[in-house]
Amino acid sequence: MKIPVLILIVFSCVCSSINATVSYDDKAIIINGKRRILMSGSIHYPRSTPQMWPDLIKKAKDGGLDVIQTYVFWNGHEPSPGKYNFEGRYDLVKFIKLVQQAGLYVHLRIGPYVCAEWNFGGFPVWLKYVPGMSFRTDNEPFKIAMQRFTEKIVNLMKSEKLFEPQGGPIIMSQIENEYGPVEWDIGAPGKAYSKWAAQMADGLKTGVPWIMCKQEDAPDPMIDTCNGFYCEKFTPNKPYKPKMFTELWTGWFTEFGGPIPTRPVQDIAYAVARFIQNNGSFVNYYMYHGGTNFGRTAGGLFITTSYDYDAPIDEYGLLNEPKWGHLRDLHTAIKLIEPALVSAYPTVTYPGKNQEIHVFKPKSGGCAAFLSNYDPHFSAKMTFGNTQYQLPPWSISILHDCKTEVYNTAKVKAPTTQKKMTPVGQFKWQSYNEETPSSEDRDTLAMKGLYEQLNVTRDASDYLWYLAEVHISPNEHFLTNGQLPVLTVMSAGHALHVFINNQLAGTVWGSLKNPKLTFSQSVKLRVGVNKISMLSVSVGLANVGTHFETYNVGILGPITLKGLNEGTRDLTKQQWSYKVGLKGETLSLDTLDGSSSVEWLQGSLVAQKQPLTWYKTTFNAPEGNDPLALDMNGMGKGQIWINGEGLGRYWPANIAHGNCDKCSYTGIYNENKCNRYCGDPSQRWYHVPRSWLRPTGNLLVVFEEWGGNPDWITLVKRTT
Ligand SMILES: *[C@@H]1O[C@H](CO)[C@@H](O)[C@H](O)[C@H]1NC(C)=O
Ligand SMILES: *[C@@H]1O[C@H](CO)[C@@H](O)[C@H](O)[C@H]1NC(C)=O
Repeated sequence: MKIPVLILIVFSCVCSSINATVSYDDKAIIINGKRRILMSGSIHYPRSTPQMWPDLIKKAKDGGLDVIQTYVFWNGHEPSPGKYNFEGRYDLVKFIKLVQQAGLYVHLRIGPYVCAEWNFGGFPVWLKYVPGMSFRTDNEPFKIAMQRFTEKIVNLMKSEKLFEPQGGPIIMSQIENEYGPVEWDIGAPGKAYSKWAAQMADGLKTGVPWIMCKQEDAPDPMIDTCNGFYCEKFTPNKPYKPKMFTELWTGWFTEFGGPIPTRPVQDIAYAVARFIQNNGSFVNYYMYHGGTNFGRTAGGLFITTSYDYDAPIDEYGLLNEPKWGHLRDLHTAIKLIEPALVSAYPTVTYPGKNQEIHVFKPKSGGCAAFLSNYDPHFSAKMTFGNTQYQLPPWSISILHDCKTEVYNTAKVKAPTTQKKMTPVGQFKWQSYNEETPSSEDRDTLAMKGLYEQLNVTRDASDYLWYLAEVHISPNEHFLTNGQLPVLTVMSAGHALHVFINNQLAGTVWGSLKNPKLTFSQSVKLRVGVNKISMLSVSVGLANVGTHFETYNVGILGPITLKGLNEGTRDLTKQQWSYKVGLKGETLSLDTLDGSSSVEWLQGSLVAQKQPLTWYKTTFNAPEGNDPLALDMNGMGKGQIWINGEGLGRYWPANIAHGNCDKCSYTGIYNENKCNRYCGDPSQRWYHVPRSWLRPTGNLLVVFEEWGGNPDWITLVKRTT
């Protein structure tokens, strides 16, 4: 009883007060006394550059958005305990102030768990190694760390006067993220934790509402909200909370090995209209600009460097038409009828099979209607008032004044534009070959048995070498009968290159669905000491799943050598030596200073199709302002740096498997429905931000793990 009374009081003072406030009732978020239908879009600040932010925000505003939504990325802001980073792509305050200058609001999803196809779901890896740590449950070390970071962010926002009651743009925050499924999984400690999280957040007195998305039992005053492709059936857990859609997925992420998912804009517009006509008052597009997972920020396993997401603004910051334009037209229509939407509940009638009419007719005047045809196959003629309306299959019309059709979700008027990648430059490469290390090297660590990768690397690098020696006696039968022994290596993931006596014997990798892998192959061994050097490679850390912090990476065994005189030799428990990272990483070959510390091969000596090869070149920035990318076709797998900035992981040799059948906008959408580019590399082009380039003398460095042809690498510009 207490809460409704409180809400009533808030509501009644709203009418007379001129104080800046944000509150809510069952209909909507209320800003300065006015209920609002808010259209929002996710733009994650570290997935673009500060130089791109103003243009992205302007395009969001021109696209009819009211709100920019972003997560806060803990591991970017606190790379080591107590050492904070709010610079460059992590300049959160600057990003929010730019949104404010554009006249838009901010929905700040602090988390600090964010999922987001981001490394470790946004948690710093050091957090896992705090004694007694257990993520996202009723665990003291975790709660202390989470509260400290949440307070850090809230206090930063307060000190910059960024919350709406202070005159800032932030109208809402978020604590935790999609916690419902975990709570369901772990029970009582999960319940206790979410109660704690809600109280902790509420106690920070931001003056704006908090939401908890995908959490049906979100404690008051947290608003529970919906994420998905459609959310019209969702209702908040209390009758005095507004119905909000925090993530309407505009597409889907791409994984290495998978095709590129798209989502037709007609279906997105349909999901929005269907949500709004059923009392929905807040819709956020996830993503509105997806951007790029620069460096090693991609997470969830095997997530590509591109996070384009088929969003209304593409990875490069160009309009993705007709998606952007058709949604802008939708927002214009919704703005037109906003006064009716916020002042009435809909009256619903059912004129025919798969048909509905929702009418908003406030007592104060005005009228708005939605005519819906849910049939995926047939168009419909619908009579409303004295007029007949024509509805394509799977579509909703919006009527202003309950008369004029101002929008239909399937009648796309925005233009379609084609994107082109045009070559603008090639490179003259130099190469440097990294040797496979040996267990005798000084910078290795010898231990008995196999160690989990993250525990050894602490994610300082994707790479961990597992090194061992195997002795072969001269009287082994295989030496004369030619039946080579078989080396079998079981790994928790994610990719593995096996070298025997410095020669690449084979490469295996897992996938997002099954990161585990097995290398099993006959190997050439010689009499005496043989060097086994295995490069285990992580491809992003898990970002989702109950206690994903306990998921293993690396070679955990068993490792066996079968076909010796003794039968099968178990190498699992013998001595293994470990080396974290590559020599080239230690030498910082990605920087100007570091790259001059080794001898590079030039001209005809440049390595081709050789594993463990570093390539470098310098180039001048092409004229103009068109976005740039590297076409990495012809290369295998590795990483790219420009002027010391990590462009990301590349892997064009990982080909898109899947179903790329024809795609219709009608019918229930899922992320496998409208795939494209099956049979092509999952990701061929890698975004090069203009702002990372100087006019001349840019250093481009590529590390190739298993062998590629650098002469095919091309600089391209993206145009429409
Ligand atoms: C809208 O909300 C009102 C009040 O909660 C409810 O009675 C009505 O059924 C809702 N209508 C729809 C279409 O969801
Ligand atoms: C982590 O590595 C250390 C040695 O560096 C070892 O003592 C410890 O047992 C390892 N922990 C796990 C869980 O593997």
